[in-house]
Amino acid sequence: MINIAVLVSGGGTNLQALLDKEADHGFPHARITLVLASNDKAYALQRAQKYGKETAVVSRKNYQDQDSFDEAVLDVLKSHSIDMVVLAGYLSILGPKVIEAYPDRILNIHPSLIPSFCGKGFYGLKVHEAALARGVKVTGATVHFVNEIPDGGRILLQKAVEVQSGDTPEVLQRRVMEQAEWKILPQAVAMVSEELDKEKNV
Ligand code: GRF
Repeated sequence: MINIAVLVSGGGTNLQALLDKEADHGFPHARITLVLASNDKAYALQRAQKYGKETAVVSRKNYQDQDSFDEAVLDVLKSHSIDMVVLAGYLSILGPKVIEAYPDRILNIHPSLIPSFCGKGFYGLKVHEAALARGVKVTGATVHFVNEIPDGGRILLQKAVEVQSGDTPEVLQRRVMEQAEWKILPQAVAMVSEELDKEKNV
C-alpha cells in the first residue's frame, strides 16, 4: 500500500478530486495519508479535515533558507512514511533535498499543455491570462513528474480543453479544472501508485 501526501496552498479543488476518487475506491494501491499545506489559511485544510485526513502546515516564511524549509518538509513526510507526493495547487518551491528523496515519486498538476505557459511565474490565473493573451484555441492541463526544473519533469498525462470566445481567465480556469485537472490528476495518481506498489511488494 502506497502512502500519499498531498501538498496544497489554496482552495484544494484538486485535493477534493483526489479525496472523492479515494472515497470511490479509485486508489486500490494507495491511501492519502497526509495533507500538507504551505499556509494555515488554505481552504484545502478544511477539505482534508472533513475527510478525516491528518494535516500539517510547513510555511516557507518560517524558515530562513530553502535548505531548512526542505528539511522541515522532509521530516514531516518521513514521519508519516510517505512513499509518493502529489502537488495539488502547491505554490512553494521544493528544493533538491526533497526532490532527490522522491525520484519519480512527486507529481504536479499544471493548468496548461506544457511546454506552453509554464515555468517560473506561471501559476494560477496567470497561466490562463497568458493563454488568452496569446489567443490559443486549445489549452488544457498536464500532470508531470517534478524535478529540479520548474514544470520541467517527464510528462505523464495531458488533456486538451477548448478556449471559447469571450472567455475570461476565471471562466477558462474553471473549465480547465472541471474538464481536465480533476480528471487527469486522479488518473495519474492511480497509475503511479499502482506501479510503486508493485515495486514495493517485489
Ligand atoms: C489552480 O490554478 C490549478 O490549476 C493549479 O493550482 C490552482 C489551485 O488549485 N494546479 P486547487 O483548487 O487549490 O487545487
